[in-house]
Amino acid sequence: MLSGGPPSGAGGPDGSTVQGGPHAPETGSGPPTPLRDAREPGPPWHGRRVALGVCGGIAAYKSVQVARDLTLLGASVDVVLTEAARNFVAPLSFEGVTGRGPLLDIFAVGGAAMHILLGGGADCVCVAPATADFIARAASGRASDLLTTVLVATGAPVVVAPAMNDRMYAHPRTRRNLARLEEVPHYHRVGPGDGRLAAGEGSGPGRMAEPAEIVDAVGRALGAGGELAGRRVLVTGGGTREPVDAVRYLGNRSSGKMAAALARAAWLRGAAVTLVTGPTSLAAPPGVAAIRVETAREMRDAVLDIVEEMDVAVHAAAVADYRPRSPLSDKLKRQEAGPGFALDLVANPDIAAESGTRMRSGSVSVGFALETSNLVARAAGKLAAKGFDLVVANPAGRPDAGFEADTNRITILGRDMPPRELPLMSKFAAAWQILDAVEALLPERQEASRG
Ligand code: C5P
Repeated sequence: MLSGGPPSGAGGPDGSTVQGGPHAPETGSGPPTPLRDAREPGPPWHGRRVALGVCGGIAAYKSVQVARDLTLLGASVDVVLTEAARNFVAPLSFEGVTGRGPLLDIFAVGGAAMHILLGGGADCVCVAPATADFIARAASGRASDLLTTVLVATGAPVVVAPAMNDRMYAHPRTRRNLARLEEVPHYHRVGPGDGRLAAGEGSGPGRMAEPAEIVDAVGRALGAGGELAGRRVLVTGGGTREPVDAVRYLGNRSSGKMAAALARAAWLRGAAVTLVTGPTSLAAPPGVAAIRVETAREMRDAVLDIVEEMDVAVHAAAVADYRPRSPLSDKLKRQEAGPGFALDLVANPDIAAESGTRMRSGSVSVGFALETSNLVARAAGKLAAKGFDLVVANPAGRPDAGFEADTNRITILGRDMPPRELPLMSKFAAAWQILDAVEALLPERQEASRG
């Protein structure tokens, strides 16, 4: 089934608009950040094969970036160029970034049955840019060149990134052809976006999705057969803000980056993801339903509303343990407070502990421990005390880990395994490792809940 990808650059400054009441989810549509630093320790798509078809449109130059990012993420990328594509971009450019010579000709000597090899061997076929002519041929099942023949010969998921002039995209025949492609199971559309087209053409829907969006759509297609595919995953993230008066709050330095990476990685692995997040400047990752909250009590309500439906809950939020008992409705004035004053604090609910008692049997619950000292021992204490299946320990007070950093140093603790200390890596790579551990636990938890 084709599913519309998010138009690039859609939404407000955070790439999204909050719908409805305080706990209504928004669907993430912000432009994803490139995953270029996610190579360690073992790129997520190592051993996966992607056939990347490139048609003759000006957006073909962006496909070199798509090929490069997929390769950096571990995939073996076989590029198939249509004859027209070679007018826009040289085969050598793709060879330079993939290390593999692009395939050009269905009738090449020595290349007989190449379409069958490529189509049968690919875990995903991606066509970017997909021109009006390609879409017309694909919609009618033509096999008139190597690319369309590969498409007919594959049973793998197909990601199509249309790109053309806005009038061509709006043409009733193009619309009809896209609709026909939409009838084919396992076809996914990403974009097109709304924005500047080629020189002299103005703007309008027809612009190819950005390379990072296309890479994400391919990743989601590759995740289709995994353990998390179709599972419901809840991620909490960011810090909470506890009001002191009308303008001040107690908070912490959590950026929400770890949770955004977890939500994104879970979505790429095929899960239906809800991110409940405290205030953050980050856009919700594409495809992720985000619920924005401020206080611990709002986060608790949002989490408890949905936690019973979840297969996995990852509590990455830095929830304030205490809040001012009686926040002032006005702004506290210095003249009134005098040289010093004491804040009367009261304990906040423990969201993870409370939601642990409500999760259905067979589900997996993951906590985080951010500590300045005795990291692993304290994290092990939380594993037992809060009933988590896994705890991720990360150090506070380092520029390359914990709050605010783009990287992290994590140790994963489980009940029946020795702590697994991982080297410095991007938060996305760390998220991938955490979800590997979750995936390894899920079948046995489900089995135990049945037995
Ligand atoms: O604050 P602490 O280090 O105990 O947090 C450990 C875990 O518990 C984290 O996963 C955090 O998200 C969660 N937590 C929570 N509600 C709180 C405090 C912590 O869900 N009030």
